[in-house]
Amino acid sequence: MYKAKSYSVASATSPFTGTTIPRRDPTANDVQIEILFCGICHSDLHQARDEWASVMPTVYPLVPGHEIVGRVSKVGSTVSKFKPGDLAAVGCMVDSDGTCPECRAGFEHFCPNLILTYNFPDKHLGGVTYGGYSDSIVVDQRFVLHVPSNLNLAGAAPLLCAGITTYSPLRQHGVAKGKKVGVVGIGGLGHMGLKLAHALGAQVVAFTTSPKKREDAMRLGADEVVVSRNADEMQKHVESFDFILDTVSAEHDIDALINLLRREGNLTLVGAPPKPLPVSAFSLIMRRRTLSGSNIGGIRETQEMLDFCGKHNITADVEVIPIQKLNEAYERLLQSDVKYRFSIDMASLKG
Ligand SMILES: NC(=O)c1ccc[n+]([C@@H]2O[C@H](COP(=O)([O-])OP(=O)(O)OC[C@H]3O[C@@H](n4cnc5c(N)ncnc54)[C@H](OP(=O)(O)O)[C@@H]3O)[C@@H](O)[C@H]2O)c1
Ligand SMILES: [Zn+2]
Ligand SMILES: [Zn+2]
Repeated sequence: MYKAKSYSVASATSPFTGTTIPRRDPTANDVQIEILFCGICHSDLHQARDEWASVMPTVYPLVPGHEIVGRVSKVGSTVSKFKPGDLAAVGCMVDSDGTCPECRAGFEHFCPNLILTYNFPDKHLGGVTYGGYSDSIVVDQRFVLHVPSNLNLAGAAPLLCAGITTYSPLRQHGVAKGKKVGVVGIGGLGHMGLKLAHALGAQVVAFTTSPKKREDAMRLGADEVVVSRNADEMQKHVESFDFILDTVSAEHDIDALINLLRREGNLTLVGAPPKPLPVSAFSLIMRRRTLSGSNIGGIRETQEMLDFCGKHNITADVEVIPIQKLNEAYERLLQSDVKYRFSIDMASLKG
């Protein structure tokens, strides 16, 4: 066991402060990574503030962070995928049983014995797992990914959650040339959704509550931008979408969005607002539309997404911050005041 520097919160209302946490010495299958950048996901904020208490109560102290890129510093004796000095990345998961039907199908994220990167039972050290707001992490090689060498590392970090969470449902629903696709909420996930849907060849419409994001949304890959609080702009698109990806983190009117789907169109929720969202049965039954959800993606698909981003030179638009600015960054995230993901430069933790 060794100590890693990190930032944690002690309760739902405490600010982040610097601390040290225990990390295991790498076992035979482990990769030890010196973390270079870690993105700030809205899920980090939901959990730091225990907003998901009913489904996933937070154990404190909490060290969030599941958009991790870094350099391998040490590997265990049976590690074949990585060697010291390699770039490496870790997303939302660090372990699963590897034997159940879900794992065997490449859906580790649906494994009944899944271990998430933070706030999940740590079978090695006891207590809970600690995430990437830290200078290092030790992870089983099965959950460590390769980062294409052409990508900017600060911008590549958010691919590990925002990237895969949007890529997976876009692929699942056959988003390609000839499809009309909506992306709702232009934040960390949404801006990746625009870039990826555009790269997949679809006609892309961005839905935002922030008229000031209009120009950015076009630059990020939208062919058109709709201000969702403007009923006239919404009405123009009624019954026209094949697929809508909803990334919104708070309560909002999903019926208004479902009504924009054509016959048998699908709206997939990836945003995870703490409170239930009301849906009118009529919006679904009248045109045999479907409403579904999607959660990150498996390891194989995450590597596929990273390779796709390498090929198309896609990274997140990031504002790089020192870790000392975490508290301020969380407040700004709540105000949708980030273009479009914070990425923590872990060099700031060294001093
Ligand atoms: N399913 C998964 O696997 C998964 C993975 C990661 C994150 N998540 C969840 O996805 C959600 C988004 O995460 P994120 O990191 O992208 O958050 P984010 O950067 O804060 O973006 C959320 C966006 O939602 C829009 N929004 C916020 N409040 C709204 C409101 N009251 N009404 C309508 N729109 C609103 C804003 O976009 P505009 O300004 O454009 O309106 C905002 O930029 C969070 O709930 C997070 O926990 C889920
Ligand atoms: Zn996330
Ligand atoms: Zn499993």
